[in-house]
Formats: sequence, structure tokens, C-alpha cells
Amino acid sequence: MIKTIDLTKKYGDSFAIQGIELDLQEGDLFGFIGPNGAGKTTTMRIIATLLEPSWGEAYVCGYSVHTKPKEIRRLVGYMPDFFGVYDDMTVLEYLHFFAAAYRINGQTRRDRVDEMLEVVDLNFKRDAYANTLSRGQTQRLGLARTLLHDPQVLLLDEPLSGLDPRARIEMRNLLRRLGEMGKTIIVSSHILPELADICNKVGIIDRGVLNVNADVDEVKRRVREHVVLVIQPQKIEQLPQAEEILAGHPSVRGIQRGDQSLRVILAPEVVDYSDLPTLLIQAGVVLKQFREEELDLEAAFMALTKGTSQRM
Ligand SMILES: Nc1ncnc2c1ncn2[C@@H]1O[C@H](COP(=O)(O)OP(=O)(O)O)[C@@H](O)[C@H]1O
Ligand SMILES: [Mg+2]
Repeated sequence: MIKTIDLTKKYGDSFAIQGIELDLQEGDLFGFIGPNGAGKTTTMRIIATLLEPSWGEAYVCGYSVHTKPKEIRRLVGYMPDFFGVYDDMTVLEYLHFFAAAYRINGQTRRDRVDEMLEVVDLNFKRDAYANTLSRGQTQRLGLARTLLHDPQVLLLDEPLSGLDPRARIEMRNLLRRLGEMGKTIIVSSHILPELADICNKVGIIDRGVLNVNADVDEVKRRVREHVVLVIQPQKIEQLPQAEEILAGHPSVRGIQRGDQSLRVILAPEVVDYSDLPTLLIQAGVVLKQFREEELDLEAAFMALTKGTSQRM
């Protein structure tokens, strides 16, 4: 559905993006992660045919951005990171205005607009002025506008930024639903964990270079091969004793000693480690903490793909 080859954009002597290679299939929800200035917007605008690459190729459904921009625009819905709403238009008028621009008319247009208001859950605001909406509602209105012509491919530039936690959850659910509808979606963010749960593929871009391009389940599976425990005795003097007890245990693969606690890496096949706290307690170690270390997806992505730039 979306394929880019050596996609590159230069401004003067500096590269906004450099050699970006993507290959996304129908139904893929691709999390495009990177800090400000990394090149996310540039990449998406090129795929949306709003910006020409310096060199390289981008295809949408087999159409090249160089030769078939019109065809691509029909297939793509692009939601920019900032978009204006008009002060003197209601939500309904706003959507009708853009539907008309797509030459959707008459009853089809009324049906389509109503349907989109349902999809983004803004029906209750249909007669409100667009500039009175909250940030979350405005983002949802932007998404409704992007969906009007029923695009197969969605390019959503930081739709979660600036949203409060609740609006964030709503928008994430909405993205997930769109993915389930079979659309191919690129969604950008500068925060990996906020997308890792809903995306099936993730790319990490930094200074114009795509360092990581990976399948989320694959990364999670590889990270979870080893459960890591954080164990902290009540008294720091008991740290060496706890370490000694655990070091010889067949479930334990390795131990890293911190200032206050032990970081215990279990052997790959171990899922039940309930005997470990028992052993420690029986030996008289008073436990302050005994827990599984949280999965640091960002670190995991980086560690697993460091230098190799794994391709999908
Ligand atoms: N019109 C432009 N002229 C010069 N440099 C630009 C222009 N647009 C973007 N850039 C540069 O390209 C890089 C990537 O920008 P951008 O794609 O907007 O990043 P992101 O969306 O990840 O924040 C940045 O260093 C930015 O300064
Ligand atoms: Mg941007």
C-alpha cells in the first residue's frame, strides 16, 4: 500500500530525511516515532504529494508520487499537525464544506457527514461552532474531515499531541478502530509508548534517518524472553545475602547489583518464579520490593535493533 525507496529530501546542504525505506501493507498501523525535527512531517507530506522529494521514490497503492499525484490524493487522507478551523462555521457546516470540496453532494453528502460524526463521536457537537471545541474534539473533527472521501490510506501527523489523558485514550481507540477497518495508517508521535500498544509496526526516525523499522509483536516477544525482577531487601546489608541465595538458582540467568536493589534476569523459559521470594524469606531476608521490571519498550526497540536498522 505504501512503499518508499531511498526517499530523501534536502534543504540546501542539510538532509531533512535521508534514504527512508518503508513497506506497509493493507491494515498496517505504523507508528512513526521521532523527536521534533526528525523528519516525520517531511516524510508524510511527500507521501501525501504535498512536497517533492529531492530523490527517491514513494508509492501509494502502486502509484508513484512523481507521476500519479492525482490518483494518490484520491486514496490518501492527510491530517496535518496543525490545521485551522473557521471561526464562523459549525461542525456540520465545516464537514459539509470539505465534503463539497471533494465533490460529494446531495443525500450522499448528508449521509457521509452524519456517518463521520458518528465515527468520531461528535454528533452531540454538530451545531456547535468549530472554534468552541476542545483540543481533543478539534482533533476528532480534523480526523472526520480527513475521512470524508473514504481514503484507503491515512497519514496522521501527531494526532495525539496536546491532548489530555482522556482525549488521548479516545483518539487511540479511534485509531485502533480505523486500523481494524483495514485502512493503512501512518501515525506520528514523539512518544513511543503511546503508540506501541496500538500499532503493529513501529519506525524510529532521528535526524532524518530511520534507525528502527520493526514489527511490534516481534520486539515484544524478544524482550519478554527474559523476565527481569527487581528485588530490594528492607535492609541494605542483606543485599549480598540475597544475591548469594539467588545466584545459584537454576531459574536465574544473571544478577546486576544496584545501590538499593538487585536486578535479576531469569532464564528464558522461566514463567513461574514463586519459589524465589519463599527462598529469600526463609533465609531471613526481609523484602521491601519484589516485582517484575516494567517493560521499557523504547529501550528495548533501541537495544534490539541497534546499528542493524532491522527492516520489516
Ligand atoms: N521548508 C524547510 N526549509 C528548510 N528546512 C526545513 C523545511 N522544512 C523542514 N525543514 C527541516 O527538516 C527537518 C525535518 O523537519 P520535520 O519533517 O518537520 O520534522 P518532524 O515532523 O519530525 O518534527 C528539520 O530539521 C527541519 O528544520
Ligand atoms: Mg512534524
